Amino acid sequence: MTKILMVCLGNICRSPLAEGILRSKLSSNFTVDSAGTGGWHTGELPDKRSIEIAKIKGIDITNQRGRKFTKNDFSEFDLIYAMDNSNLKDILQLAPDENAKKKVHLILNEIYPNENKDVPDPYYGLNDGFEKVYNMLDEACNSIAEKIK
Ligand code: 4NP
Repeated sequence: MTKILMVCLGNICRSPLAEGILRSKLSSNFTVDSAGTGGWHTGELPDKRSIEIAKIKGIDITNQRGRKFTKNDFSEFDLIYAMDNSNLKDILQLAPDENAKKKVHLILNEIYPNENKDVPDPYYGLNDGFEKVYNMLDEACNSIAEKIK
């Protein structure tokens, strides 16, 4: 069983969307979870704007609660997707060994190989930022799902 973890900064905007989107494309043989490199939103629901855009697209993410990424996640998960370069750096700093580092990828490299693009943090932006983020993640998750199915 393949286990995939989506990681952003707060675990309330981007990674909850990535979790919900990827899960919707896979069978229950896969585990999909998300976490934040920061712990400020531990136990909280995703941001209202993420809940709203997911709902519009037919995905319910209200079962999710925020949690902080931990070193233990390297042993729990097979694939770890960072939303941006800053998340990637923070995750890699916690990696216990080279094998752990190999599990970590920038999510947009799935559709723009080697370009190292960020999924922009929509937290302080306009509401349409969430739809843009949704569409980027949907495309990236199509590619991930095709690869691991
Ligand atoms: P996310 O967005 O990393 O996509 O969940 C953020 C949400 C909250 C904060 C930062 C980023 N924050 O600093 O509280």
